[in-house]
Amino acid sequence: MNCLSPSILSADFSRLGEQIRELDEAGAQYVHIDVMDGMFVPSISFGMPVIRSIRDCSDRIFDVHLMIEEPVRYIADFVEAGADLITVHAESCRHLDRTIDAIKEKGILAGVAVNPATPLEAITYILPKVDMVLIMTVNPGFGGQQLIPYTVQKIRDVKKLIDKKGLKTDIEVDGGIDLENVTEVLDAGANIIVAGSAVFGGDITENVSCFLNIMNEG
Ligand code: DX5
Ligand code: ZN
Repeated sequence: MNCLSPSILSADFSRLGEQIRELDEAGAQYVHIDVMDGMFVPSISFGMPVIRSIRDCSDRIFDVHLMIEEPVRYIADFVEAGADLITVHAESCRHLDRTIDAIKEKGILAGVAVNPATPLEAITYILPKVDMVLIMTVNPGFGGQQLIPYTVQKIRDVKKLIDKKGLKTDIEVDGGIDLENVTEVLDAGANIIVAGSAVFGGDITENVSCFLNIMNEG
């Protein structure tokens, strides 16, 4: 099934709770939560207290994307704050296998992310242990960037790899996805779509339903 995961990085933070309820009512299945530390990526976003305070606004899957150095240090805190799925970057973990184990031991879903220029070899061996792979289609750090065209081939390649191993791993894509290019990434093999500016720019309910209509065609 194809799912939409709106990124709240582009939300109006003065009305965050209200906007999360709107996403939920419009039918978005996930809430994408971008945590940035100013080290792994240039910007700083928000952390545990914000997640904890929005947890009651929706029962949808809280999809926490950790763009932080050595995320293994904070797995327990993010689980306690309300994460249902935690994704860590292959590039930010000295011991990726141990970090994935730490997430799974908490009984939640685990994802592994790769930056645009990181080869898929970095995640080949960990694939059978994760529930989701996140293919970054922009360099992480900011919302509102343009999708990097070569990453579409990477989605096809990871899909091939997953099929070859006989796995059912979800493929999430993140960065620069809009109503114009969503079909291309779905056709390439993605099934969880992150969209920030394309959902929060304008009417949220209408944007979510446009995405869901395209995603559920055919
Ligand atoms: C980028 C973040 C994304 C971002 C997506 O570092 O991981 O989730 O918020 O925003 P758009 O859809 O505007 O590129
Ligand atoms: Zn993200």
